[in-house]
Amino acid sequence: MTKIIITIDGWSSCGKSTLARGLAKELKYVYIDSGAMYRAITLYFLRHHVDWSDNASVQQHLADVSLEFHHNAHTDQSEMYLNGENVEYVIRDLVVAEKVSEVAALGPVRTFAVAQQRKMGARKGIVMDGRDIGTVVFPHAELKIFMTADNAIRVERRFKELYAKNPNITIEEVKSNLEMRDYIDSHRAISPLRQAEDAVVLDNSYMTMEEQLAWAIKLVHERV
Ligand code: CDP
Ligand code: CDP
Repeated sequence: MTKIIITIDGWSSCGKSTLARGLAKELKYVYIDSGAMYRAITLYFLRHHVDWSDNASVQQHLADVSLEFHHNAHTDQSEMYLNGENVEYVIRDLVVAEKVSEVAALGPVRTFAVAQQRKMGARKGIVMDGRDIGTVVFPHAELKIFMTADNAIRVERRFKELYAKNPNITIEEVKSNLEMRDYIDSHRAISPLRQAEDAVVLDNSYMTMEEQLAWAIKLVHERV
């Protein structure tokens, strides 16, 4: 079967990674979580107290950032490594989520991440999820999906995940983080979150993970 590029963009916590991972597994494609890259850069900036209002400082620190995805045979999932350290777990913290949209709005950060993302897709057979994958990273992708879901449902989904890691977290914190990120991500000057004109919209508010995967597999077969 011809390999294609599949892009999945959309609002936070609506199920993009879940769908992308499922598609990659089913099609034997590579899955890339572009958000993990922005989260890892943010973690690096926080750890090194980078003043990201200073462009020169951002450029200088980015030169020391190395990002790689490695497959974990135990969990059968791809995990994010920052300068050789597995940061897959720590980048999901609210501390990182509170700052990631600010960092992801910076021009040098986007140039740095997008160049690597394009290389990863050079041989096709890839599913990448994020905010600007169908609009900027792979504008000629064969299949573009734009995901959305009711706000309250998205908050509930992310709260359940974070609460399992940290029972001190409140639903209000999660709600305000999602609202803040969605606002910054869709209003920034460079590569804002928006639906590509040729994207197919999926509202999965009342869909199970199995239903959304079956819906997407059908689309892939139509496109290939
Ligand atoms: O999983 P969730 O939807 O909460 O977010 P994520 O995909 O891990 O992305 C975290 C943040 O990275 C987003 O809120 C955006 O600020 C940024 N991001 C971006 O700017 N462009 C992308 N292609 C992917 C993520
Ligand atoms: O990548 P994104 O932030 O868009 O979302 P995700 O990490 O794939 O999904 C957020 C949470 O929603 C996960 O805990 C999924 O298991 C859950 N989910 C769900 O309950 N129902 C769906 N149809 C899709 C995702």
